[in-house]
Amino acid sequence: MIGTAQTNQNRLRVLIPEEKLRARIDELGAQIRRDFGDKPVTCVCVLKGSFIFAADLVRAIGGEVKCEFLGVSSYQGGTQSSGVVKITKDLSKPIEGQHVIIVEDIIDTGLTLHYLLEMLSVRKPKSLSVCTLLDKPANREVDMAADYVGFAIPDEFVVGFGLDFAELYRNLPYVAVYTP
Ligand code: IMP
Repeated sequence: MIGTAQTNQNRLRVLIPEEKLRARIDELGAQIRRDFGDKPVTCVCVLKGSFIFAADLVRAIGGEVKCEFLGVSSYQGGTQSSGVVKITKDLSKPIEGQHVIIVEDIIDTGLTLHYLLEMLSVRKPKSLSVCTLLDKPANREVDMAADYVGFAIPDEFVVGFGLDFAELYRNLPYVAVYTP
């Protein structure tokens, strides 16, 4: 038991500690609320990776916020994007006429976001924005930029705060670089 815990710890290097995440998410929430005034916004939490970020972000935005969930799978358990986006759970309500914010954990190649923007824009939201906790701009395969970015990070595989490797490490309260 102890041996396993130590081995896993050796694979992790803290990149963004808990306090920095909390402070930045509060700033993002305040910025979004400023930009939208007192209008209601609909946050689309992209599962599974953004569930922890989205939980903090919607509270930081305050005011009228609807929460929707979209299940997406683009990795097949490894550390490289497969480029194939699979919808595992669709939204439960229409988003037509609403100010929609896609809440992402990380933008890497940009392929997932590109797919989601096309998929959601045809549902006629009043506006469609993107808020991502992390951005790895060095690894883009399609030209994609988020409206709100928590942290730009180097091209390394990260886990924690919702992000996983083979479904593990989502529960870490910080973001860490993972070396398989
Ligand atoms: P993209 O399509 O390559 O931009 O990848 C988007 C998705 O891949 C994200 O929503 C994550 O779920 C996953 N992903 C990309 N980079 C990482 C990482 O460093 N750690 C964990 N998951 C990642």
